[in-house]
Amino acid sequence: MAQSSLDWNAIDDFKHESEEDVVGRLLDNAPVSESQRKEAVRIGQEIVLSARANARRKGMMESFLEEFGLSNQEGLALMCLAEALLRIPDAETRDDLIAEKIRSGDWSSHLGGSESWLVNASSWGLMLTGRVLGPPASAIRSPGKFVQGLVRESGEPVIRAAMMQAMRIMGEQFVLGRTVDAAIKRGKKMIREDEAATFSFDMLGEGARTNADAERYFKSYKNAILSVAKETTGKTPELQNGVSVKLSALHPRYEAVNYDRVMDEMYPRVLELCTMAADAGIGLCLDAEEADRLVIQMQVFDRLAREPSLKDWQGLGLAVQAYQKRASHVIDNLVELSAQTGRRFMVRLVKGAYWDTEIKHAQVEGLEDFPVFTTKDATDLHYLYCARKLLEAGSAVYPQFATHNAHSLACIRLMAEEIGTDHFEFQRLHGMGEPLYKAAGANNRVRVYAPVGAHKDLLPYLVRRLLENGANSSFVNTFLDDDVPVEDVVFDGMAHLEAGQKRHSRIPRPGALYGGERRNSVGLDLSSTQSRSRIEKAIKALDEGKALSAGSIISGKEKTGGSHKVACPHDQSRVIGTVKWAETADVEKAFQAAAKAQPAWDAEGGVKRADILRSMGQALEDNMERLIAIMAREGGKNLSDGIAEVREAVDFCRYYANQAESHFNQPTRLPGPAGETNHISLHGRGVFACISPWNFPLAIFTGQVAAALAAGNGVVAKPAEQTSITAFEAVKLFLKAGLPKDILHLLPGDGETIGAPLTKHPLLAGVCFTGSTEVAR
Ligand code: FAD
Ligand code: 2OP
Repeated sequence: MAQSSLDWNAIDDFKHESEEDVVGRLLDNAPVSESQRKEAVRIGQEIVLSARANARRKGMMESFLEEFGLSNQEGLALMCLAEALLRIPDAETRDDLIAEKIRSGDWSSHLGGSESWLVNASSWGLMLTGRVLGPPASAIRSPGKFVQGLVRESGEPVIRAAMMQAMRIMGEQFVLGRTVDAAIKRGKKMIREDEAATFSFDMLGEGARTNADAERYFKSYKNAILSVAKETTGKTPELQNGVSVKLSALHPRYEAVNYDRVMDEMYPRVLELCTMAADAGIGLCLDAEEADRLVIQMQVFDRLAREPSLKDWQGLGLAVQAYQKRASHVIDNLVELSAQTGRRFMVRLVKGAYWDTEIKHAQVEGLEDFPVFTTKDATDLHYLYCARKLLEAGSAVYPQFATHNAHSLACIRLMAEEIGTDHFEFQRLHGMGEPLYKAAGANNRVRVYAPVGAHKDLLPYLVRRLLENGANSSFVNTFLDDDVPVEDVVFDGMAHLEAGQKRHSRIPRPGALYGGERRNSVGLDLSSTQSRSRIEKAIKALDEGKALSAGSIISGKEKTGGSHKVACPHDQSRVIGTVKWAETADVEKAFQAAAKAQPAWDAEGGVKRADILRSMGQALEDNMERLIAIMAREGGKNLSDGIAEVREAVDFCRYYANQAESHFNQPTRLPGPAGETNHISLHGRGVFACISPWNFPLAIFTGQVAAALAAGNGVVAKPAEQTSITAFEAVKLFLKAGLPKDILHLLPGDGETIGAPLTKHPLLAGVCFTGSTEVAR
């Protein structure tokens, strides 16, 4: 009987581990010795020099230019334009657009921003000519006129043909064939010409948005496996062509939060593909995608590894990304999984292709830290650390080192030699790395990752390759560029880490995104079970606890116990509590109290008010899970919207706190003529009515109130009837955060009873309202 799966969630403990600690540990347990480090630099530099000496230009740009008589830079601009065209999903519209827009020359309006299609010019230049080239200045100044100029000089049909040719060039650069059969045919030629040993075919397509997308990609993977199966030689998977699969192509809800659906709906598809690969005796590799999918990917992999029907198959594989801090723990677990199941896994070690996305995602979501390293030196070192683990894992894994970096390659060879193993292979991407492996004399043991498919599915893959080829830090960027000294291409990056910073000084941690201005609001990582269980606990507590009871709060006094029942909007049978509506007389009471308290509040000044607003921001963060739970039940907010909502409220508090400090503190002296002294100081106007909508029950409610308070006003707030409980909780937090009880009052009720008298009150100094124009009037 197979053991139950490993606890893959546990590797999340390392997701946001301090980068300095991880790097320190890697340096203390260096995978390469002092002498290996020196030797690797020497060998790596030798490889680069030899590749440079033998490099033949691809000549694609040259032949393109020969055919169309365009200058180099204009050709490049057309490549960029062709890439932009890929964003248009169907061929018909694309053709229409080419025809129409060439005539009008109006590119900028359709392609979103005048220069957006030119952003990748230098990457294209590098790839096609080996040199960094920019587009012509005239294209940057005025893209529309530039295209019209080209048309004038060459004629419309020539430009249209050139653009189609540019798209074909892009396709050929990275795609081995439009169909697997075509790709296999082209691949055989490459093997004959000693450019490759084997292939892993990947059907372009990822991130399915609908089930129809997923069905289509599933079918294309099945066809790919059938085609590869036709060519099998009966050898073991490591000696044969295989396939690579992106799980995100197979299900539109391939996310950690949807564990059950992934296992119920996506897993059977993956199993079917694996069964087909196993029947054919070929390898199938699960590509690595975004860091948030790591645990769920490993859970799927674990289940496959324990499938009795696959037990004799040696081809089950996956990619592991060394730029993730968790990668070495993944490898440890894989070795354990191998021991438990008696299976050998094919493990492709990559550095990772989604780095920019990971950095941005963590900052936007306010996560604790990045799941990836912030320096390339650390990624490179971790790659070697993981490589050594794989080389030392014996029969548990078949290591597949996917890199285009001469230094990484040299280190792997030295480590393998020391360990005494040649049980591994190298891998490169189609269209990249060929001169490297040729110069290293390893072309005949390199597997080529070979994307297959049509233009329309190329874009995400293409963008990753453009980023990879264009990044200053990237090895392929400088590899063949004679202007870059070889010492700057291959060097001992560990020395940099030993000498100094163990994380990048100019990539702010998510919390420090706004620098000294304010702290970024803290998010919750829904891909981690720890975070999800915190929210689940809060929801459970709400569901099983006492029914909620809300009502008005006037001068700190809560009036609850009403008869109005509050039900979940998505399940009206579930009542979560009651609200006692405010009465018309309460409007008067609230206004009088607020008006009386307002001058003192105004006189407190911006600094004092900022303190309270910041405390409110903190209180919201401290109560995040409960607020998310309340909004889920009262407002029907899903969890990620709930997180975003609390964070927005927190941001409002911190933002307005800053505004209060900078605009409502000391009077500012104005310049003026001799004999006059003029000062300006800003003050609250009096009492504000804040009327907010149900769709952002916490964020807009808090934002309106915080803005009015920051400016020194008293506030009478009326929340949307549908979300009064959320507002009630928010006001309680405001008061707990130190707000004087007479300065903020809550009057839940309907528009007519409360809203109308509120906006007519003689003491009213201003209104903050979010809602329809009709109600606003
Ligand atoms: P190098 O130029 O030496 O390294 C580039 C790496 O350094 C990148 O990972 C980049 O993100 C990282 N880096 C750059 N700057 C920083 C920084 N400041 N901090 C931290 N890291 C930094 N990628 C996947 O994600 N999933 C896959 O399944 C996958 N499959 C692949 C299969 C094959 C056969 C190959 C060759 C590549 C595959 N890749 C995959 C892509 C791969 O991740 C990139 O090609 C690879 O990272 C490039 O590494 P390198 O050693 O060739 O280049
Ligand atoms: C990517 O799709 C090669 O899997 C890698 O970028």
